[in-house]
Amino acid sequence: MRHCLTPLDFTTQELDQLFDLAADIEKNPGKYAHACDGKKIATLFYEPSTRTRLSFEAAMMNLGGKALGFAGADQSSAAKGESVADTIRVVSCFADIAAIRHNKEGAAYVASRFSDIPVINAGDGGHEHPTQTLLDMMTIRQLKGRLNHFTIGICGDLKFGRTVHSLVKTLARYEDIHFVFISPPELRVPDYITDILEEKGYTYEECIKLEDVITKLDLLYMTRVQRERFFNEEDYIRLKDFYVLNKKLMRRAKNDMYVLHPLPRVNEISVEIDKDPRAAYFKQVQYGVYVRMALILTLLDIHVD
Ligand code: NCD
Repeated sequence: MRHCLTPLDFTTQELDQLFDLAADIEKNPGKYAHACDGKKIATLFYEPSTRTRLSFEAAMMNLGGKALGFAGADQSSAAKGESVADTIRVVSCFADIAAIRHNKEGAAYVASRFSDIPVINAGDGGHEHPTQTLLDMMTIRQLKGRLNHFTIGICGDLKFGRTVHSLVKTLARYEDIHFVFISPPELRVPDYITDILEEKGYTYEECIKLEDVITKLDLLYMTRVQRERFFNEEDYIRLKDFYVLNKKLMRRAKNDMYVLHPLPRVNEISVEIDKDPRAAYFKQVQYGVYVRMALILTLLDIHVD
């Protein structure tokens, strides 16, 4: 049985197949409308979510299946003290596949050890968020036509941002990518991530000011300061508006420098950018449904001709 705990669970060849499948789903949705008739996805969300949970549920429904689950630990037996291991054993009796989001790093891995059904990591603490990476990669592939030979700026909370960790690890398998990490010193990218880049021979730089580097970027991945992972509110308040991408900054960027963001956005992208053709963050959400449909089919080993 196959799980999706990190994007590294897939080879780059398998990722290509997944993106091809997602692109075919986008083009021919009718072909897949009954692929999961009679199947159920359980969404076990111990942490807040809008996009990810609804996207998984919509993905299963688009395939003809159904969705069940809970949104918030307080609505589940976790509030009574049940372990993730016991919950997933129980859920294995109700559903064919599960997506789990938890505030503890490694929770999805624990679930997979005790599960009789495929488990998808929908975010584990400040660690990883593989399906966000799949849709980020699909968006880059669709917009740029390639997954190699570019300079990507990653800006904001690079310490706690799990989408950043999964994305960098995944991009570090494609050719000729230069990474520019833009963050306040307190929120710099963890050493274990830059160690991976060094080991694999990728070039990267770290800086504080977005205006110093924006002209050379082919892609800009903005992120929210992860308030829920801070130890004290004062630090959050000091850092939360460190970056605000606005029209003035966008004027300095290349004409095809697409702006990505996993969302939710707080203040880090001014709404005045939303109409800029380079704003790709709402497109990402749409690709997210196709890529999650492709992932569900792949993990359930369902083939549609
Ligand atoms: C991200 C997450 O949960 O890590 N959201 C999402 O799933 N699109 C990013 C964030 O919350 O900032």
